Amino acid sequence: MPSVEQIFVTKPSMPTKEEYFEEVSGLWETGILTHSGVKHQELEHKLCELLGVEYMTLFTNGHLGLEACFSTLPRGGEVITTPFTFVSTTLAIARAGLTPVFCDIEPETYTIDPAKIEAAITSNTVAIAPVHVYGNVCDCAAIDEIAQRYNLTVIYDAAHAFGEQVDGRGIASFGDMSMFSFHATKVFNTGEGGGVACHNPEIKRALDAWKYYGFETSGGDVEVVGANAKMTEFAAAMGLCNLRHFEEEQKKRQQAYDRYKHNLAHVEGIHFCPEQPQVKSNHAYLPLTIEAQYYDRDAVVSRMDEAGVHPRKYFYPLTSEYSCFDYLQVDPHDTPIAFKASREVITLPLYAGLTDQQVDRVCEVLVEALA
Ligand SMILES: Cc1ncc(COP(=O)(O)O)c(C=O)c1O
Repeated sequence: MPSVEQIFVTKPSMPTKEEYFEEVSGLWETGILTHSGVKHQELEHKLCELLGVEYMTLFTNGHLGLEACFSTLPRGGEVITTPFTFVSTTLAIARAGLTPVFCDIEPETYTIDPAKIEAAITSNTVAIAPVHVYGNVCDCAAIDEIAQRYNLTVIYDAAHAFGEQVDGRGIASFGDMSMFSFHATKVFNTGEGGGVACHNPEIKRALDAWKYYGFETSGGDVEVVGANAKMTEFAAAMGLCNLRHFEEEQKKRQQAYDRYKHNLAHVEGIHFCPEQPQVKSNHAYLPLTIEAQYYDRDAVVSRMDEAGVHPRKYFYPLTSEYSCFDYLQVDPHDTPIAFKASREVITLPLYAGLTDQQVDRVCEVLVEALA
């Protein structure tokens, strides 16, 4: 029997070998492979231009970028965030000596519900850590307004929001810091990697120090309990190559996204997130809600897996359900909208190289699995 082509939820974008080899060839002459070399500097500069931000600090991965952001806050404080995210967000808060406080999400965008933030604020609250989920953008204006009123720092987990704009304004211009993930599966990747955008030179200095063990200057004092989280020249070079193709890859994602929406428009009991008209979306993911009143989401996923199409239950479970956070004594039902989303949402395969035929096959397999 001929083997069936497996379609996975994502596939990394890569430059040609020739383009990458050309980009890294100079490293054999300089011998500088890390420590803010030329590739690293060029990528930071180009990302500032593209994202319209003043400062960018590159990291080994997005998670360590988040840890660096939270390390700028006073230890022992509370951070208001949501449990409908990748575990990295909650881990980074906890590992910086802070307490995550879970707030529910909006049902349409799966992002933090600003109307519920104020009730979670206490005298110990130091920050809000909203997550732009799947490329859906948080209500930044409302969040920033609350933060200003209560004098709170806003750290956006923008792992999914690279290159997005709200009313023509770059997404990283909101809040105090925004962390982007450059993991292999993201819309822009450096293999592993991440970057934090900010607007304040003091914060930029603190982030730079944190990723270099906390050294203020090379060989100087260590003021903060930092880590080693520097991006290598090889990763930065991958980023420089991928950045050249970002716009063209965005168009391909848009095409696949439109085809999915067209193909599945009339299927009952499933729905896509409504588009955010003010947002220039990057179509990072394609979330689909499989309504529990009609279907068993987990059974649908199993049937699709058997047919060689691999969607992802993302995010499942809520981060508040992981046993490492038992000490917080949180009931996941306290965030009922997030809980429901974690039981109903899947993300469908979406990446720049996905062909029309593959999109059609995913849709057919989904419809059969629903039947
Ligand atoms: C919402 C979210 N936050 C943080 C991260 C961590 O980023 P990284 O994988 O670059 O460490 C991810 C990665 O998948 C993510 O999806």
